[in-house]
Amino acid sequence: MLTIAHLSDIHLGQDRHGDGGERARKRAEQVMAYLDALPGPLGAVLVTGDLADHGLPEEYRQAAEVLASRHPVLTCPGNHDRREPYREVLLGEEPGEQPVNRLHRLPGADVLMLDSSIPGRHDGLLDDSTLEWLDAQLAEGRTELPALVAFHHPPAELHVPKVDGIRQFGEIRLERVLRRHPRVAALLCGHSHTPAATTFAGLPLLVAPGVVSTITLPCEGGPGISFDHPPMLAFHVLDGDGRLTTHYRVVG
Ligand SMILES: [Fe+2]
Ligand SMILES: [Fe+2]
Repeated sequence: MLTIAHLSDIHLGQDRHGDGGERARKRAEQVMAYLDALPGPLGAVLVTGDLADHGLPEEYRQAAEVLASRHPVLTCPGNHDRREPYREVLLGEEPGEQPVNRLHRLPGADVLMLDSSIPGRHDGLLDDSTLEWLDAQLAEGRTELPALVAFHHPPAELHVPKVDGIRQFGEIRLERVLRRHPRVAALLCGHSHTPAATTFAGLPLLVAPGVVSTITLPCEGGPGISFDHPPMLAFHVLDGDGRLTTHYRVVG
């Protein structure tokens, strides 16, 4: 059994009422402190994008500090991230504009973190090179083990008007790849700043809540975004037979 914590959209550097990003940093620290204090083990902590609010090098320096953990921390970029400083400052790699895709081999499962960002835009797309890479990774290596595929933008409408217009498009191409690989147990994403669960390509599509804020449904009224809801995260528990169960937690 593998337990993974999943958080998203910490938006470090987001300025609220001139606080210089202090609120965003505190919220991310609160969630990471909660995970570090858990008595039991975690296979990994996933952060599905929008680590930085403006994609600034300083925000990635903060991210490196705030996300330092006793657990392995796996990330992918979101629409607020910028690939060059993300690579250089957070990952300590050579700068480059190509998508930041990573395969992580955890005990009992492969986790593929994909880059659904499009430089300069808020909607998302897995480009052809990313989909070819995903197809190849799923076909090679530990094919007997389940795989989790994570990215920032949900490839389906969530009935949240603020997000549906800037979701991941070109999703039929992703569906074609996923249907070739029955080892994929679930899809994990963020971007929507709401804890949600739906399906895509016959698979669970599990959305991590936003740490920095919560986007609300039309039936809830109001401005459509709440900065009052406390930070939240998800725990995904993967059985030996590849079945995933998700629990959502409020932190604080
Ligand atoms: Fe976000
Ligand atoms: Fe986003």
